[in-house]
Amino acid sequence: MRKLLLACLLIAPGLVWGASAPVEWEGAKPFDGDLTDKPSLQNGMRLYMNYCMGCHGLQFQRYERTADDLGIPHEIALEKLVFSGQKIGELMTTAMDPVAAKDWFGAAPPDLTLIARLKDPEYIYNYLRAFYADETRPFGANNKMYPNVGMPNVLLELQGNVTEGCIQVPKMAENGGEMRDPLIPGKAITEEQCGRLVHEEGSGVYTPEEFDAAMYDLTNFLYYVGEPSRLERHRIGIYSLLFLIILGCFTYLLNREYWKDVH
Ligand code: HEC
Repeated sequence: MRKLLLACLLIAPGLVWGASAPVEWEGAKPFDGDLTDKPSLQNGMRLYMNYCMGCHGLQFQRYERTADDLGIPHEIALEKLVFSGQKIGELMTTAMDPVAAKDWFGAAPPDLTLIARLKDPEYIYNYLRAFYADETRPFGANNKMYPNVGMPNVLLELQGNVTEGCIQVPKMAENGGEMRDPLIPGKAITEEQCGRLVHEEGSGVYTPEEFDAAMYDLTNFLYYVGEPSRLERHRIGIYSLLFLIILGCFTYLLNREYWKDVH
């Protein structure tokens, strides 16, 4: 019995890990956060406060710290970004009741303060880009990175209509290169691939490129929120190393001075 229990304990973390294994999506793009890019972080916060805060709080982060770090004056932050009537010194909590939310969406919207540390920021970036229309889902939306997700496609008006469909893609040769038509120089041979995301041109506020840029900013903001002191930590780290190098030089010289008389 004890052995069985031990085996269960050993296997259980593996099962949990397996359940959250990342999903491959051919439309995924790399993400490289930039915390020095203030306009990107400010736009990310604007998008977050407008489209996400209704369901997802940032309960470990304060408005004041965020506004200061992002270079937004307090009055502007309160007027344009805080819609809940909260004060600048308050935590960025949401009024969404988790129990009711679980009933509505099948899963309660998680707090997102630490999401960029729990999940790879690249995953979040692609998750936000991977919503598409799917009539079989309760809210009419599905996600390529998180199949059967409970979250509705809240960015539909910005993103425009995206559906699953078939598109022509370049046919790949066995060596990994694109196959070329032997008769027409330079012409690539294509093949039809289904289950790909197709965007209806002109249906959203943003073009697909602008939407990707907006999702970059939003993810960059969540990356910042995950560790607001990251930039400062790197700066202090460099000073500490410089200090140790200088201290090392003096210690070496002192050591040489002491041993001079002994030798
Ligand atoms: C209408 C409520 C609602 C809004 C608004 C909303 N979400 Fe969600 N979100 C959810 C729910 C519900 C879940 C849990 C989904 C699940 O686990 O099936 C979720 C999950 C997530 C997750 C976790 C996904 C994972 O892999 O576990 C992220 C990241 C996320 N939302 C980001 C956002 C961002 C960014 C916005 C703003 C653009 C946003 N959400 C707006 C309801 C919402």
